[in-house]
Amino acid sequence: MAQETSRDVGPVVLLGPPGAGKGTQAKRIMERYKIPQVSTGDILRYNVAQGTELGVAAKAVMARGELVSDDLVCEMVRLRLKQPDCKRGYILDGFPRTAAQAEWLDALLENELFDNPRPTRAWPIVIRLEVDYNQLLLRITGRRSCPTCGRIYNVHFQPPQVDEICDVNGTKLVTRNDDRLEVIQPRLAAYQEQTTPVAEYYQRTGRLISINGDRPMDEVTQQIFRILEDHHA
Ligand code: AP5
Repeated sequence: MAQETSRDVGPVVLLGPPGAGKGTQAKRIMERYKIPQVSTGDILRYNVAQGTELGVAAKAVMARGELVSDDLVCEMVRLRLKQPDCKRGYILDGFPRTAAQAEWLDALLENELFDNPRPTRAWPIVIRLEVDYNQLLLRITGRRSCPTCGRIYNVHFQPPQVDEICDVNGTKLVTRNDDRLEVIQPRLAAYQEQTTPVAEYYQRTGRLISINGDRPMDEVTQQIFRILEDHHA
């Protein structure tokens, strides 16, 4: 994949229900523009695995498919965005997920500027991936990931070369704890109830761009690259 590192990208928000392809597309944006993926789900899972204070607080909530409290998540994001690798921009994957988080982010970015190529306000570009419900179920139940490198596979749409083994490093692939059938429903319900207002918030502020996330991965990627490049043209 060709790289485009000549200009600042600024903040990119990927919105979409569980299984929409946010993580998959975030990794591709990261590779092309060399800006980091800030996945609140990944950071929380890391904390759960490490047994940190945050992880202990989040573990049971995540296992039920509910949302972790705004206070904990916002503080986690604030610390991450202060890191030097976020200077040219970053991809928020899974954040904001409530109206309060979206307002918090705007307040945080109020006085931020990105040089792109002239100084510009740091309002995020918000891209929503829209995906049919049955397709989401197939994507979530078929997902496997590599615990070593984080690469995401799908037994239906993007299988590894050898069953259940990572192509990159030979590690056995794992299924996420919250991809169990009984947790999928509450996750989708949480999205519907708590994250729909986020899309409405960005719609009102004229920043929401919705795309058809049902298309094959490469087509979705091309649409996203076009949006990012048109935005900065
Ligand atoms: P999080 O980790 O953010 O999970 P999610 O939003 O449920 O999203 P997923 O990771 O399930 O899906 P995705 O859209 O990234 O899809 P992917 O690219 O993997 O959050 C987990 C939990 O953490 C939450 O439930 C909550 O408890 C907590 N949390 C996180 N953020 C929070 C916040 N801000 N506030 C409060 N709590 C928070 O793709 C899915 C599958 O489909 C893969 O197998 C992939 O290969 C395949 N696929 C992708 N695109 C395509 C395509 N175009 N065609 C065919 N297959 C595809």
